[in-house]
Amino acid sequence: MTTVVTGGAGFLGSHLCESLLGDGETVVCFDNLGSGRRTNVAPFEDLDRFTFVEGDVRADLATELDRGGVPVSDVDRIYHLASRASPVDFGEHPQEILETNSIGTRNVLELAADVDASVLYASTSEVYGDPEETPQTLEYNGNVDCRGERACYDEAKRFGETLCVTYEDRHGVDVRTVRIFNTYGPRMRPDDGRVVPTFVRQVLDGSDLTVYGDGTQTRSFLYVDDLVCGFRRMMERPGLAGDVVNLGHTNEITINELATTIAELSAGDSGVVYEPLPEDDPQRRQPDLSRTRELLDWEPTVTLEAGIERTIAHFRENELDA
Ligand SMILES: NC(=O)c1ccc[n+]([C@@H]2O[C@H](COP(=O)([O-])OP(=O)(O)OC[C@H]3O[C@@H](n4cnc5c(N)ncnc54)[C@H](O)[C@@H]3O)[C@@H](O)[C@H]2O)c1
Repeated sequence: MTTVVTGGAGFLGSHLCESLLGDGETVVCFDNLGSGRRTNVAPFEDLDRFTFVEGDVRADLATELDRGGVPVSDVDRIYHLASRASPVDFGEHPQEILETNSIGTRNVLELAADVDASVLYASTSEVYGDPEETPQTLEYNGNVDCRGERACYDEAKRFGETLCVTYEDRHGVDVRTVRIFNTYGPRMRPDDGRVVPTFVRQVLDGSDLTVYGDGTQTRSFLYVDDLVCGFRRMMERPGLAGDVVNLGHTNEITINELATTIAELSAGDSGVVYEPLPEDDPQRRQPDLSRTRELLDWEPTVTLEAGIERTIAHFRENELDA
């Protein structure tokens, strides 16, 4: 069983590689190192069952894997996680994000069709945009501004999902889709602009926490180990071709509450400063998990406090000079 993880040197991808390797699988991490880091997968590089291929999903994937010494006919499963995901990158790399989730996703699906591999597509809660309904059910079609600041990501992921549906329908590719809600944990980049690593870096630096808007907007935060468990169930359970699920925590909290939790658990004395809310920032986020429970028997198991403690410990040990 050879599994390719695109975006495998990123935050989520590196945890997924670790989990698959832990179960004896042969894993190919395919990554252009745009927002990922080689250090995230450095602990696996001595294993014979692990191969790192530096390459871009926007290029012909079979050629890229071949160049990296991976026989494409061996590929059974592809977890397609490659995509910048940080709001900071939406402003700096919009075209790359659009192309990665469109051309890159097409390339992944073409390879899967050629070698009869299964695909798991990492979609996002951002397909719901700034939702008018809470919790967000799979049937809710979203509220996205196709010309807004976040459009390169939101619309590209929506297009990526449509490609997956089309390749399943027209080419018989076994594609499963997960809509990921905010997930956090060790190996996030301290400078990647997402709220948990930003707050953790700020408390450890002894600076004030930056809250955008008045901090009453909500999110639900999932610890990375729970997400990886959901990914693997979605890929490994038989009979789920063409299906889509939400993966996220249902514990909806305000950004102010998150700031307080992180400040308390770090035992620092940081205050909070308020900055204007960016355009199109969603006000609420909470997944409806009915279908996830039905298909995967899956529930989050790690509390926010436990997950934040592990994340702070990791940042203390590894990221303080970053
Ligand atoms: N972490 C979350 O809360 C979250 C939420 C929703 C969706 N997602 C999705 O999960 C996936 C992984 O996100 P993450 O949080 O680990 O982000 P990340 O930035 O840490 O990881 C993304 C990885 O993809 C690689 N990459 C980007 N473009 C590429 C390309 N064109 N070719 C090859 N590699 C490329 C990056 O170098 C990086 O290693 C993304 O698709 C993201 O949209 C994540």
